[in-house]
Amino acid sequence: MLVLGIETSCDETACALVEDGESILSNVISSSLPLHRRFGGVVPEIACRAHVECINYILDKALRQGRADLKDIDLVAVTSGPGLVGSLLVGISVAKAIAYTLRLPLIGVNHLEAHLEVNFLERPRPKTPFVGLVVSGGHTSLVYRASTEEDYELLGRTHDDACGEAFDKVAKILGLGYPGGPAIDRKAKGGDLERIAFPRVFLQKGSLDFSFSGIKTAVLYYVRDHLKGGPARSASQASVADIAASFQEAVVDTLIGKVLLACRKMRASLIVVGGGVTANSRLRDKLFERTKSEGIGVRYPKPALCTDNACMVACLGYRQFRRGIVSDLSLEANPNLQFGAR
Ligand code: KG4
Ligand code: ZN
Repeated sequence: MLVLGIETSCDETACALVEDGESILSNVISSSLPLHRRFGGVVPEIACRAHVECINYILDKALRQGRADLKDIDLVAVTSGPGLVGSLLVGISVAKAIAYTLRLPLIGVNHLEAHLEVNFLERPRPKTPFVGLVVSGGHTSLVYRASTEEDYELLGRTHDDACGEAFDKVAKILGLGYPGGPAIDRKAKGGDLERIAFPRVFLQKGSLDFSFSGIKTAVLYYVRDHLKGGPARSASQASVADIAASFQEAVVDTLIGKVLLACRKMRASLIVVGGGVTANSRLRDKLFERTKSEGIGVRYPKPALCTDNACMVACLGYRQFRRGIVSDLSLEANPNLQFGAR
């Protein structure tokens, strides 16, 4: 079954063709990120306009790359939320137009679940039950999946900033530019991760929720009090690299602490991770080290599939279709869609 996936929830316009929820035939992504850089974050109107301008071209390119024609498609899957409402509507409108014109089934998928589902592509399916961790620019969620026939159960989420948002804001404080995650990851490689003991916020005992606003503020105060002359002139004290490495280590320790706690609570021996922050090299290495000693398996997406793409949408759309879950032309954008909801 050939599935067309369409993703436009934030600043990436993406189309992909995936065969039987497993084989990627094409994966085309265009990002409007360069247009947002000077604003230090995504500007919804600019993102939305960029989707309108390039979606037809991206669709055409995905078809050509997959050596397919519109009439070869069996199913159209599109992200229906969460995300920026104007951006979501562009992808949904295109998906509806294709489904209506070609009389194809249409499926709206949850972007957060799709970030985990990408782990099912081009490799054996992970065994259930598992604990899922989604860490992206807009969300941080810990979930449980008892079986692939059941929906996800939400175990915990962030009370304030998302994990990727904390990376982006701290990078801004340190003058490292936008998006902050990859910049901090690179900078941290040259720093001392034990130089500054930034807080690991675990909230009340046993909680599976997250909070990242405290550590962001701790970095802000540290820079104000210790980096006299600003981040650019820091030679004699802790360097920007030390701050980046210490911040990253605190976030990684928090994520690992929570996900291991969730495994113990749910008696799960597999962790499936997804979302942009999963590309973080320290998170990947340290989570692997810590889980190995506890006999827990970890599934990471391939680095190229960690951030937003349409393969993950096509993959989840296929699995939903197999479970008998379909949408119709009344499908709406749902900017606040939660895990486990459709
Ligand atoms: O999943 P994603 O592409 O978009 C959303 O659904 O939000 O995630 C984007 C987020 C950004 O906050 C970005 O800074 C972060 O993922 N990110 C990283 C890394 N690469 C991307 N964070 C830490 N380390 C990275 N290497
Ligand atoms: Zn995402």
